[in-house]
Amino acid sequence: MKNYTSVQDIDSVATWVEEAIQLKKNPLVDKDLGKDKTIGLVFFNPSLRTRLSTQKAALNLGMNVMVMNFTGEGWALEYEDGAVMNQGTSEHVKEAAQVVSQYCDILAIRAFAKLENREEDYQEKVLTNFIKYASIPIVNMESAIGHPLQALTDAITITEHNTKKRPKVVLSWAPHPKALPQAVANSFVEIVQKMDAEFVITHPEGFELLEKITRNVPIEYDQEKAFTNADFVYVKNWSSYKNYGEIGKNLEDWIITEEKMNKTNNGKFMHCLPVRRNVVVADGVLDSEASIVIEQANNRTYAAQLVLKKILSPLAPQRGNLIL
Ligand code: CP
Repeated sequence: MKNYTSVQDIDSVATWVEEAIQLKKNPLVDKDLGKDKTIGLVFFNPSLRTRLSTQKAALNLGMNVMVMNFTGEGWALEYEDGAVMNQGTSEHVKEAAQVVSQYCDILAIRAFAKLENREEDYQEKVLTNFIKYASIPIVNMESAIGHPLQALTDAITITEHNTKKRPKVVLSWAPHPKALPQAVANSFVEIVQKMDAEFVITHPEGFELLEKITRNVPIEYDQEKAFTNADFVYVKNWSSYKNYGEIGKNLEDWIITEEKMNKTNNGKFMHCLPVRRNVVVADGVLDSEASIVIEQANNRTYAAQLVLKKILSPLAPQRGNLIL
């Protein structure tokens, strides 16, 4: 595999999930695969889980890791072709991507949506330009419109906790005081469509995700109705795609409560974290046995490790058919 930038790079979710579960049982099985290889982790935005779990994954594979916070520490990058760079930007992505390629064997990038201009965000300027100009594989650690490492994690976690042939999975919008991107929700929707599940999305009117992503997934505007008999409730805020970046008004009652969870089939509560307690979800839910958010965070390592393994395997020195 060259790049991992989208859920669409997964050829079989069921197979990848099984492979990740096997890695979780024996995380050091490939501890020499990344020997003498270096991954660069470049962050344009904050992170706890992605930063540490991707490092952990790389270390489990024997890789060297370099981490850079670009915002505030790197040069301000220019992305426009032919730009006259006499204003705020100091370095063009053409050079930056090629330079990083001299130091690293894989580059992982986090660059969120700015939520100012929908067309610009959905063009994935940062990610696509690094893919265009770098000469090494690129991994998406959450871009403007997708978070495929999180989505793979979520598929692993659902599979591990599933007891049914076809579980009911609900993606529920929840309130948040700040405008958040649609990336996590987009990738979750994409991956659940590749799983054997009854899938429902619930959100207030006006918070529809991009139709090209949700396709035929039913949308239920009555949150409690959507929760009925759910086996998994995946909760995430996103700002409006239609009224781009708006957070809505008087939507506090979309918070996830114990009463709402009681409508489910002893459903599991999932969230990618970080989560705002008693705004997005009540303490009573997050602290209950229904919550599997810490296991989700744990699985970030094995999702990242599987992705890095798939990228590293063709790069590893070969002798005959043996990977040394
Ligand atoms: N879920 C997730 O991506 O967490 P971080 O933003 O802390 O990396």
